[in-house]
Amino acid sequence: KRLILIGPPGSGKGTQSPMIKDDYCLCHLATGDMLRAAVAAKTPLGIKAKEAMDKGELVSDDLVVGIIDEAMKKPSCQKGFILDGFPRTVVQAQKLDEMLEKQGTKIDKVLNFAIDDSILEERITGRWIHPSSGRTYHTKFAPPKVPGLDDVGFLFHLSFLLNDYGYRMNLQAAAGSLYLCLCLQTVTGEALIQRKDDTPAVLKSRLEAFHRQTEPVIDYYGSKGILANLPAEKPPKEVTSEVQKVLSS
Ligand code: AP5
Ligand code: ZN
Ligand code: ZN
Repeated sequence: KRLILIGPPGSGKGTQSPMIKDDYCLCHLATGDMLRAAVAAKTPLGIKAKEAMDKGELVSDDLVVGIIDEAMKKPSCQKGFILDGFPRTVVQAQKLDEMLEKQGTKIDKVLNFAIDDSILEERITGRWIHPSSGRTYHTKFAPPKVPGLDDVGFLFHLSFLLNDYGYRMNLQAAAGSLYLCLCLQTVTGEALIQRKDDTPAVLKSRLEAFHRQTEPVIDYYGSKGILANLPAEKPPKEVTSEVQKVLSS
């Protein structure tokens, strides 16, 4: 299967991807993840992309089309892929069609994570990421689990609340090390991190970019008859079963 996941920041694209990927043995190509890796490694690509990403604006079409063109050639992507966060402009969608046409393939389904803007700030500001696996957690909706300990989410929630009173740096560090010592009993012992663009101010411009530049892409696929709308405001498990329904039909 060749799938596209489209939706605003925080709509759940990254959360649903691992399930879809495992169910159908697909490769997961997330332009945001690839760009963040390039920024962290200070590659020429990362240096070009950083400014736009920090402001919550889109990186140029040429840069992202180049990344996707390269990534789709990987042997693991030949049987199928999930595009997460690409295409985000109509130009990107047209370039993608050209690339696929050359390979004699096409997109099977576009999953539209439909959700109201008002829900997204809480999702974005509560997100924590496990750096090496890319797994995503949420202080309230998806707290990290440690065997025998149900209350780790509570620590995050506490630090989150205290942040509002101006203790941001210290308490995040404290929550990080608390998590670190609990985590040592489990798999990796790494602390969770937050994304630099996950602030209310940057979210605002990311949402503007979505409505102005990405919503037309939804119409583009709607007119091709391959669009499926998902109720992305539902809890994660319910969204997963909606995805499975769409993909098995
Ligand atoms: P990107 O990394 O793609 O960010 P985004 O589109 O803003 O999407 P997010 O990753 O924020 O949202 P998500 O839907 O994956 O949410 P998640 O599942 O993690 O792009 C970043 C930047 O890179 C862009 O701003 C741009 O500069 C650049 N860029 C990337 N691609 C580009 C392109 N093609 N062209 C140009 N520029 C590009 O969920 C969020 C939180 O909510 C988590 O904490 C999660 O646990 C929780 N959650 C998830 N689902 C649920 C649920 N159902 N109920 C409750 N909580 C939930
Ligand atoms: Zn994501
Ligand atoms: Zn809109």
